[in-house]
Amino acid sequence: MSGVLLYCRAGFESECAAEIQEKAAALGIYGYCKTQPDSAVVVFHCKDEEADHIGRKLSIQQLVFARQLIVLVAECNDLPVDDRVSPLVAALDGMQLCGKLWVESADTNAGRSLSALCKGITNPLRKALRTKELLTPQEVDNRPVLHVMFRSTSSALVGYSYSYNHAPYIMGIPRIRAPKLSPSRSAAKLAEAFKVMVPAQELEQRVSSGMNAVDLGACPGGWTSVLVAQGMMVSAVDNGAIDEKLMETGQVTHYREDGFVFRPKRRNVQWLVCDMVEKPVRVAHLMTDWFLEGYCENAIFNLKLPMKKRYAAVQQYLEAIKERLYEAEMRGWELTARHLYHDREEVTVYLRKKLKS
Ligand SMILES: C[S@@+](CC[C@H](N)C(=O)[O-])C[C@H]1O[C@@H](n2cnc3c(N)ncnc32)[C@H](O)[C@@H]1O
Repeated sequence: MSGVLLYCRAGFESECAAEIQEKAAALGIYGYCKTQPDSAVVVFHCKDEEADHIGRKLSIQQLVFARQLIVLVAECNDLPVDDRVSPLVAALDGMQLCGKLWVESADTNAGRSLSALCKGITNPLRKALRTKELLTPQEVDNRPVLHVMFRSTSSALVGYSYSYNHAPYIMGIPRIRAPKLSPSRSAAKLAEAFKVMVPAQELEQRVSSGMNAVDLGACPGGWTSVLVAQGMMVSAVDNGAIDEKLMETGQVTHYREDGFVFRPKRRNVQWLVCDMVEKPVRVAHLMTDWFLEGYCENAIFNLKLPMKKRYAAVQQYLEAIKERLYEAEMRGWELTARHLYHDREEVTVYLRKKLKS
């Protein structure tokens, strides 16, 4: 079997399939997807060398709905209960040397029921792969990662991802710790966005103590708590009630104002974040206004998804932002969007000024 394997949130297979088809076509690669509803995986079928080209050249940062991008090597079916290792190793014969092994399953209830099997087989499989010199003797970061994705107790898809173009987390799911002070679970969403969307090499420059931030639609204060934990001074804008403990930090000023009207007194804001539950077109427009008016350097915001044609809708929202930036002849910006692990019926968008080199 050749092609590309992608992980996504269950229920978003058709968005993930539409996306890989469009992005692969832009690379001149035409394949087809087979998807099963709620399976949380998509396989894009194409030729071997094309799949490898996608694995190298289609930046995972440009994908909204895919959590992971894996070049498929083989499909192993009818794995015997008493020795699953041998056929898996045989299927990988002749593969390039990999630096890590990740044994995974889909992010579904059925997938999670395979986690004991995944855990149990990891060490014997790793040992056998090292004996065959398919895996480096110690884990290294600068070689591809070998993925074994169990679909059932007797079948698995195997492949690899390039270390410079993958999500560096098993199953494509990052571990996120929300701050202790957080009064709401949605804090994890902004914490994930910081971890996954801010380029690692720019993190220090972009996210640091003493920066000024504005949180539109801040209450009860989950996102504000993430900004506070980074040492930022936060203007929290919302008519609702903000958590008292956050106010006690001395880092938060609460403005009971309309987030669509509020503007800071000075143009000294590094971060704008927005979680107002509003029409996505309206939110996207507001964020672009802040950017064009020079009020912020980074903006992270949620855009709610419609019930249908969600991939097309996201493309429309992003195009509308880009068009306004082009029209205003604004230069030096970057725009990415992700359907994060903590996102459900929304995507998280990150609009930023490019750093001066
Ligand atoms: C999903 S909640 C935000 C949760 C918050 N991010 C957190 O982590 O705790 C949406 C908030 O947006 C606020 N909101 C909605 N429309 C608003 C507006 N026009 N101006 C200010 N706040 C608004 C609501 O009052 C609500 O508190």
